[in-house]
Amino acid sequence: MTGKSDFDEYCQKYLVQWEKRATVRHLQRTRLSAEAARYEMFPAALQPVLEHAEVVARGPEARHRLLARAAAIFMLHVAILEVEVITDLCNRLANKGADAPVPKSALQVALTVSTDEAYHAYVAREFLLDLEEHTGVVPGPAGEGDMPLIGALAAVRRRAAPELARVADTMVLCFSENFVTEELFGLSSEADPEGPFHLNMREHMMDEGRHQIYFRKLFRHVWDGLDEERRTALGQLVPHYLDSFLTASSYEASQAKLLSYIGFDDETATRIAREAIAAVYGTERPAKSTIKFMRNALHLLEVSGILEHPPTRQTLIDSGWVDARST
Ligand SMILES: [Fe+2]
Ligand SMILES: [Fe+2]
Repeated sequence: MTGKSDFDEYCQKYLVQWEKRATVRHLQRTRLSAEAARYEMFPAALQPVLEHAEVVARGPEARHRLLARAAAIFMLHVAILEVEVITDLCNRLANKGADAPVPKSALQVALTVSTDEAYHAYVAREFLLDLEEHTGVVPGPAGEGDMPLIGALAAVRRRAAPELARVADTMVLCFSENFVTEELFGLSSEADPEGPFHLNMREHMMDEGRHQIYFRKLFRHVWDGLDEERRTALGQLVPHYLDSFLTASSYEASQAKLLSYIGFDDETATRIAREAIAAVYGTERPAKSTIKFMRNALHLLEVSGILEHPPTRQTLIDSGWVDARST
């Protein structure tokens, strides 16, 4: 046996490493202090509205407040998604499997991920409490529309036949853990390396790098264990999952909301957000296969082997997620 026993062995090693490396097992986490809360709280490069003249004119305090609000919203989304989506999907995988053979060691790994993620939610909530205490900034209510992961899971569940329910959930989990990691890495490399956001992300990523590799291997293993009929049916669901990310969230709307928070009226906020995004990114929509934000999720398509499956490859080409010219 090759693939199955290799994966089993990898998972056994993972469990040993988890004991040594998981942040929940040994790391003294960094709390947000009053002094650290004076830093810029979120990567400014990801907030194009900050470059707009009407926002610059509001001065450094407004800029700090806007970035603190962006950090609060990000942490609230982490706190919610880690438990409502990722922890829940990991627990289901451990208890109910994936419609394809999965070694027991891999199910145990899923429970370690669930443990890590519940801890990440705890840390994110703690950050929010500290942020409010030091700056008065709160995230405001979370809308499901602001968290594409929730919409993407719902879109896949609506379309998955009952005999695919477990493997469809597992696929969403594998993609989400790759997508979310990409997002975190992107944010961290843009952040002030001395700032509290960077520290928080660095501690979070100690676990996420490990998760990402596990979920890539898991997806490959599960895919290999499906019969042709299920493989084809699952492949059809992939574009719906990816598309729901694009339609579920609006960058312009989220930028405008930040401006409303620092005192712009809704109409002005929307205009500035539109102008600022156009100034930085232009007005043309990029091809789906080139969207930077989705790069890691798309990488999963390659490393999992599903692009070698002709019907799945074709459905991804037809939906624009894979460039037909790519090998
Ligand atoms: Fe996490
Ligand atoms: Fe994770």
